[in-house]
Amino acid sequence: MIGHADASRVETLRWRTGRLELLDQRLLPARVEFVSCATAQEVARAIREMVIRGAPAIGCAAAYGVALEAARMRDASPTVFSSGLERAFEALAAARPTAVNLFWALERMRAAVKAAGQARPADIAACLLDEAQRIVSDDIAANRAMGAHGAALLADRARVFTHCNAGALATAGHGTALGVIRSAVAAGKRVSVIVDETRPFLQGARLTAWELSRDGIPVTLITDSMSGHLMSRGEIDAVIVGADRIAANGDVANKIGTYMIAVLARRHRIPFYVAAPLSSIDARLASGEAIPIEEREASEVRGHAGLEWAPAGVAARNPVFDVTPAELVTALITEKGVVEAPDRGKIAALLKQ
Ligand code: MRU
Repeated sequence: MIGHADASRVETLRWRTGRLELLDQRLLPARVEFVSCATAQEVARAIREMVIRGAPAIGCAAAYGVALEAARMRDASPTVFSSGLERAFEALAAARPTAVNLFWALERMRAAVKAAGQARPADIAACLLDEAQRIVSDDIAANRAMGAHGAALLADRARVFTHCNAGALATAGHGTALGVIRSAVAAGKRVSVIVDETRPFLQGARLTAWELSRDGIPVTLITDSMSGHLMSRGEIDAVIVGADRIAANGDVANKIGTYMIAVLARRHRIPFYVAAPLSSIDARLASGEAIPIEEREASEVRGHAGLEWAPAGVAARNPVFDVTPAELVTALITEKGVVEAPDRGKIAALLKQ
C-alpha cells in the first residue's frame, strides 16, 4: 500500500496485484471511492477524466499504467509485448498535455525498458513495476525534502494562501505546496490556510479543504474573487502554490488563476512561493510561452457535476492552466533547496546539482 510513511491519511493511489486503484477525486468530498484500473487504457482514461489529477500524481499513475500493461502481457511473445507496450506509452502520453511530470515519468519507464535489454517479457514487467514503485517513493521523498526546506520560510502563525490542490491528493503523498504547510505544522508552527474555490473544477473547495480538514490543519475557504480583498487588508502573509511545468527561465505553468494571484501578491508585497519537484522542470522549453496549455470542455465552465447554471449552449472558454512569469516568483522551493528569484542561470545550476 502506498502512503504509509506519509503523515497525511490521504491515499491517492494504491497498487493491488494486477490492478491500480485510484481515489476518485471527482467525487470528493461527498464520497471516498476508488476506481480500479486493469489496463493502461483505463489509467489514461482516468487521468483524462480527472479521477486522478495533480502533476506528480498523474506521473505516478502513468508509470503504474505502463507496469499494469506489461504485467498483463508478461506471457506474450517479445514482439507482441513490445508493440502492446508502445500503445500503452502512446495512450498515457496523450492523456493530458500540460503537466510535464507525466512525460518525465514515462521517460523513466522507457529507460527501464531499455535497461532491461533483451530480457524475457515477464522479467521486463517485473523491472517496470519496480521502477513505478521507485517513482512513487521518490515523489514522497522529494515532497518531504521540499517540506523541510520550505517550512523555514513560514513564520509562526503565518496565514498562507494557496490555490487549487497541491497536496497529498496531487502527489504520491505529503504534497508540494501543502507539503510545505504540513512540514511547518509538524515543526510546531501554528500555520493557517486560506484556499480559494479554484473554478471550474473546484480543487480548492473540494480537495484542499477536505485534505487539510482531515489532517486538522485550520483552513478557510474563499471564492476566487476574494484574494485581492484579503491581501489589501493585510490578511495574507504568504502565497504557496504548486506547478505543472516550469520552463528553463523559471516561468511557471499552474492552475488557471495562479497568474492573477501572483500579480496581486506582488502589488501587496506578499511573498509568492512555488513548491515543485525537479521533475516539474522542463529545461527543453526556453520560456513559459512554449508550455502547452490544456483547454477542456466548455461544459465545465457552464456548470459542475451535471448541474449547468449558465444558459444552455452559451459559448465558454476553458483554458485550465496559465503561466506566471518568473519575475513574479519570490522563490522556488524544490527538494534540492530554495531558489530565490529564479531565473535561467539559477535553474540551470539547480539541475546540475
Ligand atoms: O487540473 P489539475 O487539477 O491536474 O491541476 C493541478 C494543479 O494545477 C496543481 O497546482 C499542480 O499540478 C501542482 S500539484 C502538486
